[in-house]
Amino acid sequence: MTNPSSRTKIKKEISHIALIMDGNGRWARSRGLPRYEGHAQGLRTLRKLLRDLKNLNINYLTLFTFSIDNWKRPKEETSKLMQLLRKFISNDLSELHSNNVRIKVIGSRNEIPKDIVDLIKGAEALTVNNTGLYLQVAFNYSGRQEIINATKKIAIASAKGEIDPNKIDNTIFESNLYSAGVPDPDLIIRTGSEKRVSNFLLWQLSYSEVYFEECLWPDFNKNKLDLAINDYNSRSRRFGNVINEYK
Ligand code: FPP
Repeated sequence: MTNPSSRTKIKKEISHIALIMDGNGRWARSRGLPRYEGHAQGLRTLRKLLRDLKNLNINYLTLFTFSIDNWKRPKEETSKLMQLLRKFISNDLSELHSNNVRIKVIGSRNEIPKDIVDLIKGAEALTVNNTGLYLQVAFNYSGRQEIINATKKIAIASAKGEIDPNKIDNTIFESNLYSAGVPDPDLIIRTGSEKRVSNFLLWQLSYSEVYFEECLWPDFNKNKLDLAINDYNSRSRRFGNVINEYK
C-alpha cells in the first residue's frame, strides 16, 4: 500500500491566474453606499493589484469583469459597469502599455455600446506586440456562449468542407474559443465567499485549481493573492493521472 502522503507533488510554476472578483455590491451595501460605488472601489483594487503583480512571475491574468448574465441587473448598475470599462481603458491603458501588458477582451461584442467596442479594439491594437503580462478581460462574457460560438464556427467550417468532422479534437475546439492561444488557468480565485463558477471559462477550467477567498473583492490585495498562490503550491496536480502509485 502506498501512503498517500508519500505521493510526489508536482509543483508547477503558476503561469495563468483567473479571478472572479465578487462582492462589490455587498462591500458597498455594508457602508450604506450604492452598489456602483462597490464596483468603483473594485476597480481601484484591481488597479493596485495590477501594479503589485509586476514583481510576480505570472504570464496570464484573466478577469471576470462583466457576465452576459449581469444584463439581468437594473439598468443603472449595468450602465455604471459599462462606464467603468470606459474608465479602465481610458485611464489605465497608457500605464499598462508602458508596462508591456498585452490586453485582450473576450466575450460577445454584440450588446455593448459601439464606443466601447472601439475602445477595446484600440487597446488590443496598441498592445498587440507587448510581451509582458497577457491581460485577458472577460467582458460581456459567458462560458456557455463561448462554447456555443466555437461549435457554430466549427460546424460552419465542417459544412464548407474545411474541417473533417471526424478530426475535431481538443486542439481544433480550443482554437475556436475566444481564448484561443491562451493556456488554461492554473489557478482560479473567487472572492466574496460564494462557492461557484458562475458561467466563467467553462471549457478552460477543467483542471484548474480552485481557491475560494472569503473577503469581498474591494478588500482583496497582494497578501491575499500570495496566500492563494501558497495554497496552490501545496497542491498535487495530477490531471487524472496517478503519481508514484505503481512503483
Ligand atoms: C461582482 O460583484 C462583480 C462584478 C459584476 C463586476 C466586477 C467589476 C470590477 C471588479 C471592477 C472592474 C471592472 C471593469 C469593467 C474594468 P457583485 O456585484 O455580484 O457583488 P455582490 O455579490 O456583493 O452583490
